[in-house]
Amino acid sequence: MTTPDQYAVMGNPIAHSKSPRIHALFAAQTGQHLEYRAILVEPGGFAVAARAFREAGGKGLNVTVPFKQDAWVFADLLSARAERAGAVNTLTLEPGGVRGDNTDGVGLVRDLTVNHGYRLAGQRVLLLGAGGAARGVLQPLLMEKPAQLVIANRSAGKALELALRFSDLRRVSASGFAELAGRQFDLIVNATAAGLSDAVPPLPAGVLAADGWCYDLMYGSEPTAFVRWGREQGAARSLDGLGMLVEQAAESFHLWRGVWPETGPIIAALRG
Ligand code: ATR
Repeated sequence: MTTPDQYAVMGNPIAHSKSPRIHALFAAQTGQHLEYRAILVEPGGFAVAARAFREAGGKGLNVTVPFKQDAWVFADLLSARAERAGAVNTLTLEPGGVRGDNTDGVGLVRDLTVNHGYRLAGQRVLLLGAGGAARGVLQPLLMEKPAQLVIANRSAGKALELALRFSDLRRVSASGFAELAGRQFDLIVNATAAGLSDAVPPLPAGVLAADGWCYDLMYGSEPTAFVRWGREQGAARSLDGLGMLVEQAAESFHLWRGVWPETGPIIAALRG
């Protein structure tokens, strides 16, 4: 029996990552001969760790917090969406060089549109946060042609910077949270880190339209603070980011192996 191809996810912290389980389930489902593990990398140590993994014959890496920008720098070749995002979550380690891609945004869009049947075209979308997570999902969201996309952030200046970076793609504007008063959105996507302290950004009442949807990029074994907030606002659906996690993994798996896993059963297994 040949040695299985080696893959890994690098991050810090990494112990609770679900990626090894997801990729093991994908491999079993599609009959791919591979191993996927989690590697804890010390701050500042990404390039050394990634190079060592590559020299040992590793075929691909997923990259998570806080190394997505380091991975962007590490890649020799970037996909258009990764180039724009300024962040890489998937590295394909080829003999001729390292390809960097970002599958987060397409993971979000696929979870919303394919798994949940949401139509983004023509909708008024509010994206909360202007950090790495927000940057990673902007281009694929805009490609779905929402009627408008507003980025709202605690530091409004960062939202403006981000809006300018993407404004050639579609109409994107920036806002602070308080200035959202009186406006309404059909979909609110939470890409802030507020959930880490079980908090929700201070949004004015009435900002979610009747029958609007909420989507939190975070997930947990219990409903996140933002998912609970969405329910309190009467959202038609208030979703967490587990589906996105599995979809971004499926996109990475496809980049590496050329086959698509079926994500529905995997999402169900993780929920179970
Ligand atoms: P990530 O990679 O998770 O996006 P990040 O780049 O540090 O992490 O960005 C964190 C985002 O969450 C930022 O938009 C941050 O707002 P600021 O730019 O104003 O700092 C936002 N954030 C963090 N804690 C928050 C809170 N309690 N309420 C609202 N926004 C918060």
